[in-house]
Formats: sequence, C-alpha cells, structure tokens
Amino acid sequence: MPTTTGRRHAKLHQLALDTDAAAGPLSQAARRSLTEVLDTRLHTLVSRFGVDGARLAAQGQRAAINRIAAFIEMRSIDCDFQRVPGFLFAETPDGVRTLEADADAAQRIGLPALFTRDVPLPFPVFQALRFEQQAQFQPRAYLHALCDGLDCYGSHVFEETHVTAVEDGQPCRVITDRGVITASDVIVAAHVPISNVVLVHTKLAAYRTYVVAVADAKANLEGLYWDTADPYHYIRQHVVDGTPYLIVGGHDHKVGENDDTTVPFHRLEEYTLAHFGQRVAPTDYRWSGQIIEAADGLPYVGRNALSSHTYVATGYAGNGITSGTLAAMVISDEIRGVANDWRTLLDATRIKPLAAARAFISENVDFPRHLIGDRLAQIIQTTDANDIPSGEGAVLSTKGGKLAVYRNGAGELSALSPVCTHLGCLVHWNTTQKSWDCPCHGSRFDPMGHVLNGPAVTPLEAKPLPSDLDDERVPSPMAPDPLV
Ligand code: FES
Repeated sequence: MPTTTGRRHAKLHQLALDTDAAAGPLSQAARRSLTEVLDTRLHTLVSRFGVDGARLAAQGQRAAINRIAAFIEMRSIDCDFQRVPGFLFAETPDGVRTLEADADAAQRIGLPALFTRDVPLPFPVFQALRFEQQAQFQPRAYLHALCDGLDCYGSHVFEETHVTAVEDGQPCRVITDRGVITASDVIVAAHVPISNVVLVHTKLAAYRTYVVAVADAKANLEGLYWDTADPYHYIRQHVVDGTPYLIVGGHDHKVGENDDTTVPFHRLEEYTLAHFGQRVAPTDYRWSGQIIEAADGLPYVGRNALSSHTYVATGYAGNGITSGTLAAMVISDEIRGVANDWRTLLDATRIKPLAAARAFISENVDFPRHLIGDRLAQIIQTTDANDIPSGEGAVLSTKGGKLAVYRNGAGELSALSPVCTHLGCLVHWNTTQKSWDCPCHGSRFDPMGHVLNGPAVTPLEAKPLPSDLDDERVPSPMAPDPLV
C-alpha cells in the first residue's frame, strides 16, 4: 500500500546526488538553489536548538553561500552564479500560519525576511516570506572547476573506484576495489556514511524526491519558490540554449514506501498544469533523486563515533551544496586544530533526545518496522512472475523464501536475495529508477544487485531461480534490454 507523504519540512533541493542517467541532460545542467533557509522550518529550528542555535544554523548556510561565491570569483568559474530572492509562499490559511511562525522565528534569529503579497508567480498566493540575497548556480560546472584545481594542492581524484571499507588508525586505510589508500585523516562524505554500520544511520532517514521540467516559452521566473503545502512543491527556472524551462519538484516520500514511483511524477505534472497551464510532454524531462534527512533537522558533521581520524558528513536534506560546503569548512578546521563556530552545533555524535525525540522516533521507528515487519508481512508486490513485465522487478514469495526477481528486455528472469547487505531489511522495487531500494537507510542496488549507493557496500546475493516459480512467459530474444 502506498504510504506517500511529503517530507515534513521540505523546501527546495539544491542537488539530487544520485540523479539517474535516464533524466536527460537537463538534470545535470540545471541550476540549483543556494539558500540560507534550511529545509527544517525556522520555527522548528528555534524550538529544537534555541534562538542561538537556530541563528548559528542559518549563519552557517550564509557562510557557505559566501564561500562558494568567493571560490567562483577567485577562480573565475563560469557556472551561471546569480544572487536571487527566495519566496516561501502559502496558498491556504494554514500555510499563512506557518509563514507567521517562520517570520517570527526569522526575526528572533536576525534573518531578514519580508512578508509580502507581491510574488512574481502566475497564480495567486495568500502570502509569502521573501528572503533576499539567496543564489543559484550550475553545480556541475562549479565542481568541475574545483576538481581541475585539485592537483595544484597535491590531491587526486580516483574515479570509478569503489570504497568498501574505511579503517581508522594511524594512518587510516581506505580499502577499495582497486587497492588500498592510506591517509592521516579520512572524511567519509558519501551521502550516507559507509564507515560505521549503525551509529549514524539510526539518526538518518532516506527520502526520494521528484522533479519535472517543461519547456515554457512564457516562463519568466526570477528567484526561488517553495510552498508550505504537504506534500510540498518547489519551482524555479532554467534556460537551455535560449529555451526557458520551468522546473517543478517535490512530492518526496520515504525510500521504499511507495509501490508506484510514477505517481509522484503524475502529481507534479498535475500541479504544473493547474498552476502554469503547462502540460508536461514526453519530450520534456523528469528525474528523481535521493536525499538524507537528519533526525533533528541539522546535518551530522565531524569526527565519527569511536574514531580518531575518520570524519563523517551527512544528513544534508535538500541543502546539500551549502551544507556540504559548510561541512568542509568545519572538518578541515577540526583536522587542523582551528576553532570553528559550527563544530559543536553539527557534531556528528550528538544525541538530542529532548529536542529531536519526535523526529527521531517517527523517522527511525521505520528501521525495526522494515527489518522485522517486511519479513513477516506479505509485502509481496506480486505473487506471480508472469505479472513482471520486461524491465521490471518484484519481490516474490517462493517455497524457499522471498526473492527479488527481475525480468530483462529479452524476457529472461534473474533472482537475488532481497535482503539488504547493510543491516538486513528487505529491498523494494523502484519502477521509475529501475533499482532495488532499501527503506531502512537508503541503500540502492541495480537490477542485477550491484550497489548504486550505500551505506551497503556489497551486492545483493545472486540466487538460482526456484523450480516453483510461476512463469509461463515466452522470452523474446529480439526485445532490447531497456537498461542497455
Ligand atoms: S540500508 Fe540499512 S538495512 Fe538497507
């Protein structure tokens, strides 16, 4: 049964780190937003971290934007960087109450925010909060330029190299599928850390987020827009070769908790049609990505628990670029023994049972539920291999137990253990991404079980097809594999 709900405080995503290849070039080139307004609502930050903590959190995002701007200027990086306003808008009276709470919090922490009805959207809104001097840019162009400069500092980029373990020590050892790298300090900045099995993961929740982009010659949106709705929406514009594209995103749900991942795309398309009169055509773009939420709403950054020289940075939610930049500032200072204003606030080992109890429970109760419940319950997406079309997969029940079964473009079936190699939850099939996704901590595997993203580091176990599998389909050797 679908359990799609929007993320509670979501706003707009700076970068979907595992954006899929089928998304087309726009997903790679599109500008992303940089904002000091975190996904966690301002009034929630104040209630959890106090006025000083919330102020520090917002200042951290501002410092990160300024750091990025300084890099761009210093290296003359051509990445379409622009300062733009951001609008948090409400279309309902309930939404206005959220705005009022955030406006009050913004004032208390000294974040400039202006109540306004003057919102340059082509549909009416009740009210909005306007934040000045936010920004947007093309992250790929920016990151390429940063990587190009790395060699000057004696650093190296190892592409196509899979890290399977990190051993803390003096020196630390990074075990990869192509050899061992030693280093005095290691930062695991892998979306979800692979360097410990449990400690950080129980404080994280993985969400899948969706985007559609439609060519709209009339679009003239300057700025960043996100709403107070649940599920939420964000809107921005990107121009490719003179053609403006309207980008509409949102409708997040927890990973593995939506049986039909085409539905969020349909909802975004309906929203785009209702609000902009634009129908998303097959030639337009859609993509999705995965984001990681922290239990108390702020990233976990710093020395890993039980480690001396291993550091983690995770839980960025939709603020990956700014939070990632801030994490680099915090950890590099920590390694060099330099004081840093955000070190204590973001400490990766923090546990705030009072401040974050509700979020902690609502996010992480899913781990034991999926670990035990999925195994006991009949969560089988289909019971008959005949129901699996080409290019699709499903978890089936057989006499030997549950199997993750995939049918390729030639009609041939293959089977895997559905047990996630991280901590043993059962994976679910994601039809839009063509992947096996784990609902517990967001590991993803391709149809043949290879790891797409951690924390799992080993593939799903291949299994023989059982003799009792009900499959009367005649394979078609001529049909192309949709994954090729
Ligand atoms: S990602 Fe942790 S059990 Fe699958």
